[in-house]
Amino acid sequence: MPLRCIAVQTKPFEGQKPGTSGLRKPVTVFKQPQYTENFVQATLSAMDGEQEGATLIVGGDGRFLMKDVSLKIVQMAAANKVQKVIIGQNGLLSTPAVSCIIRKYQAAGGIIMTASHNPGGPSGDFGIKFNTSNGGPAPESITNKIFQLTTKIAEYYTCPDLKPDLKTVGVQEFDVDNRNFTVQVVDSVEDYLQMVNEIFDFGSIRQLLSDGLKIVINAMHGVMGPYAKRIFCEELGAPEDSCINCEPKEDFGGHHPDPNLTYASDLVDLMKQGIHGFGAAFDGDGDRNMILGKNGFFVTPSDSVAVIGANAKCIPYFQKTGVKGLARSMPTAGALDRVANIEGFELFEVPTGWKFFGNLMDADRLSLCGEESFGTGSDHIREKDGLWAVLAWLSILAARKQSVKEILNDFWTKYGRNFFTRYDYENVEAEPANQMMSNLRQMVADSGYIGKEYSHGDKTYKVAKADDFCYTDPIDSSVSQKQGVRIIFEDGSRVIFRLSGTGSVGATVRMYIDSFESDTAKLQLDAQVVLKPLVETALQLSQLRELTGRQEPTVIT
Ligand code: G1P
Ligand code: ZN
Repeated sequence: MPLRCIAVQTKPFEGQKPGTSGLRKPVTVFKQPQYTENFVQATLSAMDGEQEGATLIVGGDGRFLMKDVSLKIVQMAAANKVQKVIIGQNGLLSTPAVSCIIRKYQAAGGIIMTASHNPGGPSGDFGIKFNTSNGGPAPESITNKIFQLTTKIAEYYTCPDLKPDLKTVGVQEFDVDNRNFTVQVVDSVEDYLQMVNEIFDFGSIRQLLSDGLKIVINAMHGVMGPYAKRIFCEELGAPEDSCINCEPKEDFGGHHPDPNLTYASDLVDLMKQGIHGFGAAFDGDGDRNMILGKNGFFVTPSDSVAVIGANAKCIPYFQKTGVKGLARSMPTAGALDRVANIEGFELFEVPTGWKFFGNLMDADRLSLCGEESFGTGSDHIREKDGLWAVLAWLSILAARKQSVKEILNDFWTKYGRNFFTRYDYENVEAEPANQMMSNLRQMVADSGYIGKEYSHGDKTYKVAKADDFCYTDPIDSSVSQKQGVRIIFEDGSRVIFRLSGTGSVGATVRMYIDSFESDTAKLQLDAQVVLKPLVETALQLSQLRELTGRQEPTVIT
């Protein structure tokens, strides 16, 4: 007996507009009847028939609600004439693994169930994100189309009696309305492991660890637990206790699965004991990473991607492909620019969000890129890749036979140092946050603003350039406006303001501070001390404290 598909009447919900990285909302919002179905239907409809007879990849970070939503997506994929769904075991796939699998099996796209680093559990967030056939996050043209479809949706299609077993690896065949429909449940790690095994020299990393480098990897109860255990312990021979918080939990153990100095402070404390020479943490869905050296030595993400760029020859993949170009998001500190200048690579500055790197990679203009928000990756896939970054660092440690700190010191001595910090003000009221941004926009739009001076202590900053960042994609000429207000001073220091596009309630103000120093006497100074006058200047010119009522940020990185 074929399984029957049905059309279900529905009505639009407000606010189903994907942000920087998909649709993210509190679980309570996603739990409303038909809310999830509407968005999934809009996503499938936006594929414009390309899903018919094609393969779709489905996976997520294990957060609360994912089990229910996995089944809903498979049932709706079948009713929307997808021929085959490849899904991770129990729905689990890291975001980089989804990108890898889309590319490997030439799928028409993938649906990722994640709210990334946002907290999970019944009172946390859920999210759904669509990736296209190149393995990367859907560009704005598609996310806008999805949004448009959500505003006028009248029905969705599903196959309610389709009940595949998503717990067991294997292939299941179904007859759906007299069409063949296949569900292939795959081991969450296997395809990803095969890929990184080809990119890196596992032998040299294994040797590094057996020579005595003690590492600790914190999966923060997100999806990366099984990846970390399999790759670091089973494949690379690290002892069992090298991988911590490796059991994926629906609420990430009650924590905020974001690998930064605030939310991964337990890892920082552990590293401060001086037992381990290398530490790393991932976010809920495994695309972000934080790198630490002995005694908690923190590598800023802006430095991390630049160090990898400067040492690309330590990685077999780059030996083969060469470095085609480098890129960073606009607010990311300029360390990568210095590598590009000195080594003669093309450099691109794109808006915040990984989706802007994809076109450059597809056009063979970009090999390595990063964001200050703990995102690092290359053109091996079309997502940032936390575990890839860790393997890149271990490859560099193995080749250079130096500590993390020594590598950074050598780097700063050669290229100079960009001191960087980001202040986040989370959950601010939307109105004053918008007011602040519109004041800033007005301020920088005035041509008389250039040349204005700000003083703090014995420091004076004179405005050299100011705008609301606008990006024209060099490949398809698409234009993205209002990507963040940036004020660049005559000494090259920058302050940048933007509102988060991934928050689910209120507004999050991000303030980014970047200042270059080439004086070798100052390279070892503490970033917060060096940047203090610039931070105060930024607070003063934006009137952030006065407008938002917030005296201190929620998170400083
Ligand atoms: C944040 C980061 C951005 C990153 C995105 C997805 O977006 O700032 O760099 O690409 O998360 O991980 P935001 O909340 O700032 O819009
Ligand atoms: Zn993430």
